[in-house]
Amino acid sequence: MNKLFQYFILFTAFLVITSCSTDHRLTTSISSPGGTIHVATGLNEVGEFYYMVSKAGKTIVDTSMISFDFLEKDSFKSGLEIVTTEATSFNETWQMPWGEQLDVINNYDQLKISLQEKSGEQRLVNIIFRVYDDGLGFRYEFPEQEGWIEAQITEEHTQFNLTEDYTTFWIPGDWDIYEHLYSTTKLSEIDATALRDHPSLAQTYIPHNAVNTPVTMVANDGTHISIHEAALVDYSGMTLQVDPENLDFNSVLVGSENTAYKVIRQLPFHTPWRTITITDHAPGLIESNLIVNLNEPNKLGDVSWFEPMKYTGVWWEMHLGKSTWDYGMTQSMDSWKDTGKAHGKHGATTENVKKFIDFSAAHNIGGVLVEGWNTGWERWIGFEDREGVFDFVTTYPDYDLEEVVRYGKEKGVDIIMHHETSAATETYTKQQDTAFALMQSLGIHSVKTGYVGKILPTGEYHHGQYMVNHYNNTVEKAAQYQVAINAHEPIKATGLRRTYPNTISREGLRGQEFNAWSSDGGNPPEHLSIVAFTRMLGGPVDFTPGIFNIKFDEYKKDNQVNTTLAQQLALYVVIYSPIQMAADLVEHYEANPEPLQFINDVGVDWKQTQVLEGVVGDYVTIAREERETGNWFIGGITDEHARVSTLTFDFLEDGVTYTARVYKDAPDAHWDDNPTAITIDEQTIVKGDVLEIQLAPGGGFAISLMK
Ligand code: NOJ
Ligand code: CA
Repeated sequence: MNKLFQYFILFTAFLVITSCSTDHRLTTSISSPGGTIHVATGLNEVGEFYYMVSKAGKTIVDTSMISFDFLEKDSFKSGLEIVTTEATSFNETWQMPWGEQLDVINNYDQLKISLQEKSGEQRLVNIIFRVYDDGLGFRYEFPEQEGWIEAQITEEHTQFNLTEDYTTFWIPGDWDIYEHLYSTTKLSEIDATALRDHPSLAQTYIPHNAVNTPVTMVANDGTHISIHEAALVDYSGMTLQVDPENLDFNSVLVGSENTAYKVIRQLPFHTPWRTITITDHAPGLIESNLIVNLNEPNKLGDVSWFEPMKYTGVWWEMHLGKSTWDYGMTQSMDSWKDTGKAHGKHGATTENVKKFIDFSAAHNIGGVLVEGWNTGWERWIGFEDREGVFDFVTTYPDYDLEEVVRYGKEKGVDIIMHHETSAATETYTKQQDTAFALMQSLGIHSVKTGYVGKILPTGEYHHGQYMVNHYNNTVEKAAQYQVAINAHEPIKATGLRRTYPNTISREGLRGQEFNAWSSDGGNPPEHLSIVAFTRMLGGPVDFTPGIFNIKFDEYKKDNQVNTTLAQQLALYVVIYSPIQMAADLVEHYEANPEPLQFINDVGVDWKQTQVLEGVVGDYVTIAREERETGNWFIGGITDEHARVSTLTFDFLEDGVTYTARVYKDAPDAHWDDNPTAITIDEQTIVKGDVLEIQLAPGGGFAISLMK
């Protein structure tokens, strides 16, 4: 380098540094590795920080402000300057121990901006942007600094200043439950407060006109946007308050009635990532790995003690009212009293569980979930004094846990444990070592947890910092005993399965159970074609598909599943989870051996996933290649409208002839009038073949392609 050039570089660096501290217009920006997504940041005239996002020159997020309010300090908001910036690049390929795919590319450009107050306490906060070709994440870092030991955050103000009145797919910003139906409205027409009184939810609290994430939006030009968060650790869940006039979302953290702040942290710490996925079409949203990539690598190492599997369970029969969770109490709500003896309807009996084990063993299903096995169900819902009721080790007298575990092992079927905490978190925390040790001693490697009802301690909400920590601590504790967690009534999925791969699945949506008992008609035919592009973007979903007896009139005349049987099969491929329930009763499967073959064959662990087509809220078709076998499985679903799907098999392996079994709606099928009419035929398929499939209203199709 010659001297003159060296001086030139030094001079330019000087200019950049001085412009950083005096230029209050645009100061710093960064693009994604492929150049598609661009983030620009800066400070306005009063030293407030803003960011903007564009894709291929089109503004997606216009000037959006960021600030924090604290309980005992002034807001971190204005009078700021940018002290340093640092741009770096990152590119790696990592492997999922189980998942929708084996190899994941994690390629981003990063910009770290250090902000400081020019006067007063001169506090420091860093903002880090990671920009991918399909979106971005940004988070706030509170570095160690003199005079600031603890942050008591009363609110985080992250603005998403959107530029169009998007068609928006949303659930309300409920602090206690995600089990709402999705609404489809213009952004400006969102009214979450209208959904406050829900007839079928044991807990709900919607304080603002806000939505929960992932919230997905579609622009007139076909751009798709989904806002969510990644790596939600030791912080409160984020809801997004709607400003209908300005087409803005503004973060509102979930709070607690017990503290004046919403988040308390010792410095140094950082927040979860705020994420914006931006794609040209709906399938791109599902194919994006932004959320998992923004999480830290696997901290548990080898988790091969958990194997993805299909499972059956003593479950749907309780939701239908065929049997009960409890053993010996009267079931009528106005006379909840101990009758002192069994009423004869208890579901979790040794004998019944063995029936499920036999059935599972015969149909390539690896697990049986048993609910209602432990004492305490008499005081499950609606009681204030729920602490101390469940202990997770004491069985009802008609259930022999050791015996069913032994019997299952003999047949190659694992028992799946169930811990319904009834949201009594202090009891559960105290019991965990004992409960997980019992599981480990029996060789049981997964548990479904449940948090029905209002959280105890009173005043906490399911999605606040207290519960975020409870859920995460439970996952870490379980890992010590080689136990994997499938949480119901959980915190939202934010990609932590990358860091803790024993986080196998969760509910966190209106699941199949609503079809059994909700008084609002169950899940409408469009439900899952929205779920695939919203809730599922967060991570695996324990939806519990596979109901064959669609109308179940012998149990519930006024309830039914609002899809065809063929769609129930499609869900094994469309709705991703490493554990997939075959949820119906054994007798309902045995009456339908032909469609059952698909459940027998379908994989649960994938080498790759291709989203072949999709329109949010209308339809989606997904193809997944099974690890180990190289077999492919395809699932397609539609909403209440019939459609024709044209499949081009260009993703198959060259030179291989696949035996394809096609399970599709019969020509006269209909989710309500004729839901079980299914046509099953077999043919051979090679790469490049084209197949046209007719889907009924509320219908679907499933294909197995075996080498
Ligand atoms: C609600 C869960 O979602 C459901 O699957 C479970 O059966 C009940 N709670 C009982 O724990
Ligand atoms: Ca539930």
